[in-house]
Parts: sequence; structure tokens; C-alpha cells
Amino acid sequence: MENNKSPVILSGIRPTGEIHLGNYFGAIQYFVKLQEQGHQCFYFVADLHALTTAMEDHIDVDKNSVEVVRWYLACGLDSNKSTIYRQSDILEIPFFNLLLGMITPEGELRRCTTYKDKVADMEGKRKMVSLGLLAYPVLMASDILFCNADIVPVGEDQLQHLEIAREIARKYNHHFSKKHKFTEPRSHLVEAVRVPGLKGEGKMSKSVGGPDNVIYLNDAPKEIKRKVMAAQTDLGPVAGEPMTESMKGIYKLLELCAPKAVYEDYLGRYERAEQRFYGDLKKELAKNILELVEPIQQRYQSPDCSVERVKALLAESAAKVRPIAKTNLRNMLDDMNFKHLAQTYN
Ligand code: TYM
Repeated sequence: MENNKSPVILSGIRPTGEIHLGNYFGAIQYFVKLQEQGHQCFYFVADLHALTTAMEDHIDVDKNSVEVVRWYLACGLDSNKSTIYRQSDILEIPFFNLLLGMITPEGELRRCTTYKDKVADMEGKRKMVSLGLLAYPVLMASDILFCNADIVPVGEDQLQHLEIAREIARKYNHHFSKKHKFTEPRSHLVEAVRVPGLKGEGKMSKSVGGPDNVIYLNDAPKEIKRKVMAAQTDLGPVAGEPMTESMKGIYKLLELCAPKAVYEDYLGRYERAEQRFYGDLKKELAKNILELVEPIQQRYQSPDCSVERVKALLAESAAKVRPIAKTNLRNMLDDMNFKHLAQTYN
């Protein structure tokens, strides 16, 4: 990135189910912040990535993709300020994926923590592990590199994939670069966010800890209150003892969604080992989550976020994004000595 150039921001979400607070606090809130800072932003739905477990999950990719974009808009993304598109509409991306796969060490993909965790989970359930799942980070690198993104706002679980994208870019630049040079993408924060689940079982996720571990943006207010009030706690703080994991989760959520003074007040109560305040703490947490989610839910129901509007938007943005991908692919083909294609492809 040149110093005087506004950075290119890019990120995406898989349409594998409903959007939850992990997606919101780890990613979408930063999508909106970066958009409002006036950068050139590309936000997409990673529908091809959703297919890495398609054999097992049977999801309706098209319908879910439209839903992701409806939530993007409801959360504050603005199609006049950001380019919002669908991964599979950019047909060049799978070609990037093929070429970049040729310079990605297979061993590195196997060592990826997300891959190892997923395989352990799937093998236990006798599910098929696909080549696409192994190559997930290569497709992600293709998403990022095709438009030379500088900054990729993602949650903590995606940092290893981002590092692989950087290594692929470095390798290409070292071995092939003549006409084309890839930017090495970086994360938006020094410390990326990890949103905990409500059940004290690791991160908030569609696939870990059951439905009560997750709060979806689409959850009814009653449901949100119920889930928060049922969140795992401990028997009460003990003077001089460190905070338990389940309470760390609740405090992290409070820190993410409540005003600083409220968070610090409750933190003080824990540190002073006060007793019997967890009920109030959870009510406060539920109240703050509702204050965040309710306006988003209202916008989601508005005509601006309708299915028809989103479909029209996706058709328009595909036509804007493909020329960028084409130019970079053409230069890359040239660099990699597919001169015949580079000359005729347009
Ligand atoms: P996905 O759909 O799994 O997650 C989307 C985003 O939500 C973040 N996230 C979280 N952040 C903090 N705490 C949590 N509990 C939590 N759960 C989810 C993820 O870190 C992510 O930022 N592989 C990407 C999709 C993708 C992509 C890309 C992203 C495909 N190509 C290129 C950036 C650039 C993913 O994790 O989707």
C-alpha cells in the first residue's frame, strides 16, 4: 500500500446459517466502522466457502446468501459506500484459487488449526472431509488477493488463514511477479476479537455448544433474555481468586455491548468479591444486547433490506467487481506464462 492511498478493505461471511453476535462483534461492526471512515470497502458473501461442508449440512446457499446481505444492510452497510457482492458471481475467483493452489504447500494447510479442529469434529461423526475443506485458506486467499486488499477485518479464528494469504502473496511476488504484484493483507486490529459463547464452551459459534450458546441477530427479545439468564456462571467471586472462565465470557460480552462505566461498575463488584449480583449483571447484559439488536431487527424488516432489493444489488455489484478481477487475473496469467490466455481473455 502506498502511503497516500486509502487502504482497500475486504471481508466476508459464509452463508451457513443465521448471523450471530460473534459475527457482529468480531467482524460486521468493523465492516461498518471502516466504511464510515471512507475507505474503499468490499464486503461479500462467501457462498463457495459454505460448500466446503455442503455434503453434510444441506444448506440453501442462494437463500442464505441473500439473508446475509439483508443483515449486512440492517447492521449499517450502505451500498452507496461499500461494494457488497456474492463470491460465486465473480467467476475469476475459482481461477485464482486454482493458480494459487499451485504455490501453496499442502502440509501448511494440514497444519491449520481450523482444519484440524473441523476434521476431529467430523471424523467423530463419521462425516466426509472434502478437498475443498483442506483448501479453504487458498480460496480465502483468492478472495483477498484478487482485488489486492490491504486490510481484512476478521475475528480471531481467521487470523491463521490471513497469515496463509500473506505467505501465498509473498511466494507469488518472489517467484512470478512481473506485471502483477500482490499486496500482503493484514488484520484491522492488533488484537482481533474472540466473542465467547454463553455456555462457557469456547467461542460463540453456530456449531459449538448448542443453540443456547449463541445469540442470533434474529432472536426474539424474549429468547435473548432467556438465553442470557440461562448463561453459565459460577457460585460467586472468591476474594483473591482469578475470574472463572464462564464469568470471563459474560464480562467479555458486557464489555462488548455495554457503556464502559457500566462494565467497570460490574467489574468492580467482582473484584471486591461482592455476592449475589449475577442476576442484575445478566439483566444488564440482556438489556444492552436488546438495545443493540432491536434497531437492527427493525431495519432488517424495512423495504431497504428486502429480498428484491438485495437481489438487484447483487446483480449490479457483480458487474462492478468482475472487471477488477479480470484485470488482475490477466496480469497474473501473463506473469505465470499463460501468454496465449492473457492476450485473448477479456
Ligand atoms: P464465518 O462465516 O465463519 O465468520 C464470519 C466472521 O465472523 C467472525 N466470527 C467471530 N469473531 C469473533 N468471535 C466469534 N465467536 C466469531 N464467530 C465468527 C469470523 O472471524 C469472521 O470474521 N473464512 C471466513 C469467510 C471468508 C473470508 C474470506 C473473510 C471467506 N473468504 C476473505 C475475510 C476475507 C469466515 O470465517 O466466515
